[in-house]
Amino acid sequence: MCGIIGYVGKRQAIPVLLQGLYKLEYRGYDSAGIAIIDKNTSEIKAEKQVGKIKDLHEKLWGKKLEGNIGIGHSRWATHGSPSIENAHPHISQSKTFAVVHNGIIENYIELKNELENKGYKFISQTDTEVIAHLFEDLYTGNLLDTAVKVAEKLEGAYAIGVISKFHPDTLIAIRKGSPLVIGVSKDENFIASDIPAVLEYTKDFIILDDNEIAVLNKNKVELFDIGKNKLKKEITKVNWSVSSAQKSGFKHFMQKEIFEQPRAITDTIAGFNSLDKTELFNILENIDRLYIIACGTSLHAGLVGKFWIEKFAKIPVEVDFASEYRYRDKIITDKTAIIGISQSGETADTRFALLDAKNEGAKTIAIVNVVGSSLSRESDFTLYTYSGPEIGVAATKTFISQLVVLFLLALELGLKRRTISKEDYNYLIKALSKIPSKVEKILLLDKSIKDLAYKYMNTQDFLFLGRNINYPIALEGALKLKEISYIHAEGYPAGEMKHGPIALIDENMPVVAVAVKDKFYEKILSNIQEVKARKGKIISIATEEDKQIRQLSDDVIYIPKTLDELYPFLTIVPMQLISYHIATLLGKDVDQPRNLAKTVTVE
Ligand code: F6R
Repeated sequence: MCGIIGYVGKRQAIPVLLQGLYKLEYRGYDSAGIAIIDKNTSEIKAEKQVGKIKDLHEKLWGKKLEGNIGIGHSRWATHGSPSIENAHPHISQSKTFAVVHNGIIENYIELKNELENKGYKFISQTDTEVIAHLFEDLYTGNLLDTAVKVAEKLEGAYAIGVISKFHPDTLIAIRKGSPLVIGVSKDENFIASDIPAVLEYTKDFIILDDNEIAVLNKNKVELFDIGKNKLKKEITKVNWSVSSAQKSGFKHFMQKEIFEQPRAITDTIAGFNSLDKTELFNILENIDRLYIIACGTSLHAGLVGKFWIEKFAKIPVEVDFASEYRYRDKIITDKTAIIGISQSGETADTRFALLDAKNEGAKTIAIVNVVGSSLSRESDFTLYTYSGPEIGVAATKTFISQLVVLFLLALELGLKRRTISKEDYNYLIKALSKIPSKVEKILLLDKSIKDLAYKYMNTQDFLFLGRNINYPIALEGALKLKEISYIHAEGYPAGEMKHGPIALIDENMPVVAVAVKDKFYEKILSNIQEVKARKGKIISIATEEDKQIRQLSDDVIYIPKTLDELYPFLTIVPMQLISYHIATLLGKDVDQPRNLAKTVTVE
């Protein structure tokens, strides 16, 4: 949820920390802070501000803070409201240690009581402050020894960065349960919650695992396990470009990411094809039931995947909210596999649900965007989406890439299980290869979709309807609109309308209906008629050249023709654009909507 960054090297630390925090802001953005070790005095100097990184940046203007080592934090409140006191870094009582933390310390009340009894004064309501005082309390003269002692005391999930005035050249990081990467370079090294935060300085990363400690100096990075044994870990080379983590002329990351979808599809197809899948098919060989677990947008991708896997591979699939699945009485046999879908690979609900199922004997597969993320390392096999970094909080290009992976997985499984013929497989693959150019065509409608957004932007509620494989797209359309525009929206299977929600329809209710020319076309037309009869406003997403739909709709967005099974790749795009334009016309912060965080690492 929060983002952390740390730097030690030849440059001034503050600009590096601020740049990193801007990149991490999507993870949390109610307050921020930095701490450095002053070059001249070796004292810890910290600055914090409530609000966004730019507010902290403004506060730092004109301040003389010089140092080549420091830590920074962008916060998303879990314990204590957004305030300067609660913002990180937290500083120990005698100002000897400064700490940034992402995660939750579950036993912090107990630790706080112990420390208070020893005379430590707490100035924040956070769980993190205990870590700073613990470092001071347990300090042995050796930073690594102290870090181990602190880690032994902490229960919960954390990624921690620490600097100390006693060791003005050393930055220390500990990871257990929250993401943390080490960026490695010449004469400088970094810690960060994710790769894009330091991508402009290095493409070489070490992915820290749970219960590992990194000790960083300007010229070296040493890694240890919690027993202080030295570790050797491989460097992961990242091929993301710096511009892929910048706005490249677009107004918002979300807009850029919507427009990157044709590329994301092509790259994900190529990535899937280049992967050695022997192990994957060994895992799936005798499977008789699949569970897909995920949250939010990733869950909606899973719902589409269910249609494909059941249709092409004839394996029954159940899709569940990760937060619900985790606490169910799970029915797992040696023929059960779980697919966890997650853009970040760090979503706590998804990770822990998958780990629990794995412990009960399920085979596990992850569909993940972030290379080296926890979910990918905790699963038996990982299928990556090749979307590149997604910075906008609302998921767009990663959703479409998740669809690509699920579609290809369903087809390959079908082929292996002989539930589809080679001819059908080739036919469907060919149709998929045409999807990027069809998405390009829809993106050309941007201006007219903006006009449509203007017409409906002042509405209080929206309904999104779809049938069959486009029903999850209705759910996703509604989620996109509500999370970035704060307009209430519901997604429904169109046939379910008459069983209750139709009571909501009046002349003020716009209804976005997926009415493409597939085998449900006539049925959705009847559902649209039902809305029309109650004076609802119909915005149809329809197939090009369909004249009939005009008679029934107030507005129509035409998309290119494709196979019935592939429409979700196309129908989602106008929905993303409608939401994006309504939200920006309303003046909302689409990249960082209120109350949301890109990576939700708490349950
Ligand atoms: C919606 C959105 C969230 C995420 C959800 C899961 O636009 O971004 O609903 O989809 O928090 O996140 P991941 O996919 O990282 O597990």
